[in-house]
Amino acid sequence: MIRRIWPLLCLLLLLCGCGWGTEDQDVPLLILRYADNQPEDYPTTRAAEYFAQLVEARTQGKIRVRLYCNGELGDENQVFEQVQFGGIDLARFSLGTMSDSSPLFEVLALPFLYDDAEHMWRVLDGPIGEKFLMGTRQADIIGLSWFDAGARSFYTREPIHCLEDLRGLTIRVQESTLMSRMVELLGARPVEIPYNDVYSAMQTAKIDGAENNWPSYAATGHYQAARYYLLDRHSRLPEMQVMSTVALDKIAAIDEDYVTIVRQCAKECALYERELWKEQEAASEEQIREYGCVVTELASQELEAFRRAVEPMYEEYSPEQQALIQQIRDS
Ligand code: GCU
Repeated sequence: MIRRIWPLLCLLLLLCGCGWGTEDQDVPLLILRYADNQPEDYPTTRAAEYFAQLVEARTQGKIRVRLYCNGELGDENQVFEQVQFGGIDLARFSLGTMSDSSPLFEVLALPFLYDDAEHMWRVLDGPIGEKFLMGTRQADIIGLSWFDAGARSFYTREPIHCLEDLRGLTIRVQESTLMSRMVELLGARPVEIPYNDVYSAMQTAKIDGAENNWPSYAATGHYQAARYYLLDRHSRLPEMQVMSTVALDKIAAIDEDYVTIVRQCAKECALYERELWKEQEAASEEQIREYGCVVTELASQELEAFRRAVEPMYEEYSPEQQALIQQIRDS
């Protein structure tokens, strides 16, 4: 008897082993590649992981997002081009670099544009921010959501306290004409270097300093070589989470509703990123102060000197852009 039913039993076991009931769920129909130049436990990459989990859960495993950190897929400018033609599906960019790839975004990256974080979020979470996300189509990408990246300040190998101290120093900036122009107007010499190459430039004293927010200053280890952080908060460069139009079409081809789902997941993970950012900003500042870096708060008349120095950047825009700047300032 057992000999007769044995082949049947074997077949049954084999089918169960193959996971017939779950096979559909286990095999995604689409795998999307997501690029970020920050390390794995950074607010932006943790938010990207959360995004991946949300997307996978809400598409019943049909869409999977694979995250590549540390600039593994290239520096921001290279990744931007790849997203434009669909070689990379998703990414997160600093508006500093993005404004170079697409001047559309320049206005939002101007120094001393916002009074503080609340002002920036009023702009980005309101009609202006939404218009910029929609406007990304003109740059052949799809803007999904806004991430926080705090305020950027200068840090150097030698002590600096005021504008005059910056004069003649070689300062690393993002690959961005806008950021180079700003540093020039502040009297220093800008050198454009991709983010993940700054550490060695700092170590070998190819540069005298750079500028970034607390979490980046800490995560990159730059604070060990450049111990002087001048809290001038010259720029708030928000970051955008984006998707390629090719990825959008592929998602829509599986199910039109999945496009809405993916957009919603992006918005939710951005709110999560903003929470993580606040925690990380405080933790990084503490870590840096404990390490013994010299943190100098810029005196108010010095802050005015910084503002005045970059004023010509505002005059270089067309009347429409001037109107937009005014609208942002009034928000
Ligand atoms: C921040 C930002 C990065 C950017 C970097 C830079 O760390 O999060 O996306 O590349 O600044 O200064 O290049």
